[in-house]
Parts: sequence; C-alpha cells; structure tokens
Amino acid sequence: MTDVPTIALNSGTSIPQLGLGVWQTPDDDAERLVRFAIDEAGYRHIDTAKIYGNEEGVGRGIATSGVPREEIFLTTKLWNADHGRDRALAAFDESLQRLGTDYVDLYLIHWPLGDDAEFLATWHALEQLHSEGRARAIGLSNATIRHLDLVLAEHSVAPAIDQVELHPHFQQLPLRQHALEHGIAVESWSPLGGTGNSGWGKNSRPNTVLANETIAEIAAEHSVSPAQVVIRWHLQNGLVVIPKSTHEQRIAQNIDVFGFELTERDLQRIAALDTGERVGADPDTVR
Ligand code: A2P
Repeated sequence: MTDVPTIALNSGTSIPQLGLGVWQTPDDDAERLVRFAIDEAGYRHIDTAKIYGNEEGVGRGIATSGVPREEIFLTTKLWNADHGRDRALAAFDESLQRLGTDYVDLYLIHWPLGDDAEFLATWHALEQLHSEGRARAIGLSNATIRHLDLVLAEHSVAPAIDQVELHPHFQQLPLRQHALEHGIAVESWSPLGGTGNSGWGKNSRPNTVLANETIAEIAAEHSVSPAQVVIRWHLQNGLVVIPKSTHEQRIAQNIDVFGFELTERDLQRIAALDTGERVGADPDTVR
C-alpha cells in the first residue's frame, strides 16, 4: 500500500496530500474508477463537487470498496446557485444524500461569488455545518487573497484550505505565501495542466504542461512519466494535489510517485516554467 503523506489542517483533522480528482468523470464511470482507486491503487482521498454530477457514483464507489468510509477523505463543493445561508444548508444535505454518507471531510465553496455579504452568509452556513460535525473541515475554492482576507476578518472558523488552479504554468506564488501565513493549506486543481477543456465554453486548449520539454527531460532523467514529475513537484512544494484521470492505468501511475524525488535543480527548472497563464476561469471575472 502506498504511504501518502498527510497535511495537518487548522480544523484539527488531516488530509492525504494526494487524492483522486473526478471533474469531467461521468457518473457512470465514477463508481468503478473510485473503487479501483481505493482498492487497487491505494487512494484514500477523493475530490468531487455537486456540479461534477457524479456524487452518486463517487458515493457508490466508496461504499462498495473494501475500505471503511472513515478511512477515506471525501471532499465536495457548494455550487454557485446555492450561495446564501438557507440554500447552502439545503445544498449540503442534498450532497450528503447523493454521496450516501452523513458527513464529508471537507466542504468547499466552489467559487467566491455574489456580493460580499452573501458570500460571507454562505461561509457562516459552512461554519454551522462544521460545528455540527457534518463537515469536518471547511474551506474555499478559487479564493483570491481578497476573498481570503474577507473571510479571515469575519470568521468564527477559519478556512482550512483554498483549492485553486495551480500547475507549473500557473504557480500562484503570492496566494500561496498569503495562505501559508494564515495557516491555510493550498490545494491544486488542474494540477497536471488541465483536461484541455476548461468547461466554461472557452479556453479550450491543449495541455501544454504534460507536453513541456523541460518536464519531459526531467521525467526521462528519473525514468518516470511527465505526469509523475508534475505530481512530485506539487508534493515537494507542500501542496495538496488531486490529479484526474478516467484511465485506471493512469490513476495507478499518478499515485506511484513515492519511489523517486526531484532534485533542487529539477524544482528550480520547473519554477522557471511559470507563465502566469490560467487554463480555467478567473475568479475575478466569474459570475
Ligand atoms: P484522462 O482522464 O483521459 O486520463 P488535471 O488533473 O490537471 O485536471 O489533468 C488531467 C488531464 O491529464 C486529463 O485530461 C487526463 O486525461 C490527463 N492525465 C491524467 N493522468 C495522466 C497521466 N498519468 N499521463 C498522461 N495524462 C494524464
């Protein structure tokens, strides 16, 4: 069994540093892939969201795996239409129902939308879910420094995590520094550079991270794949990482990253690949 390190969260719980992302994984495939990830590949952390439309498949995959629910770290997210206190509480119940569980390990606000008052009302609903023990940790996704500060100024429970687009072409250094200073863990979405389809009806483009020459050279030097190099880069930078694949062989490969280590020089070469270009939506313009 692969020993994935955990990261302590400010909620008092801890998160396996590597998990399976299931964005754009069809509900019909999610059950089999999640069960494979848990039983065959050794994953103990699954990241889904209401909007992915596969909470039921994910829930069935966990329930039919050979591993007890308590040993799996499960994340889901509140969708944009569900902001506001009452809608947020109802949306959470519906997610639990689809997932077939009575708690999640992490509940995130998917996008920090709406006016600040509504966004904070949503955050306070998550604080209530946390105090009830039904969301063991709560956090944000796509929060900028401004959004983090807004919540930090008003919180009774601080966000445990900010899950943001983060990969070698978009390294988010100022946000990472800010989160670190406030004890907030950073989790990378599109960690491998994305699926090539941002899902927002724009920005479709080939994955330039996995095709990058420097990454390919480093991969060859370590006799591993480009994806494995990129996953190691996230891990060695202290980030939580949730690579997505719909292929069993890749799901297994993506967690097989504990038999090698990137050198300081490798890390520096990858640090130089930041272009500041997103593959997904910008939280400052999403409505
Ligand atoms: P697929 O699902 O067809 O395997 P991200 O995690 O950055 O969102 O990107 C995932 C993309 O990278 C998906 O398109 C996925 O495609 C692909 N992918 C995931 N793991 C690997 C791998 N080990 N090698 C090559 N491509 C991968």
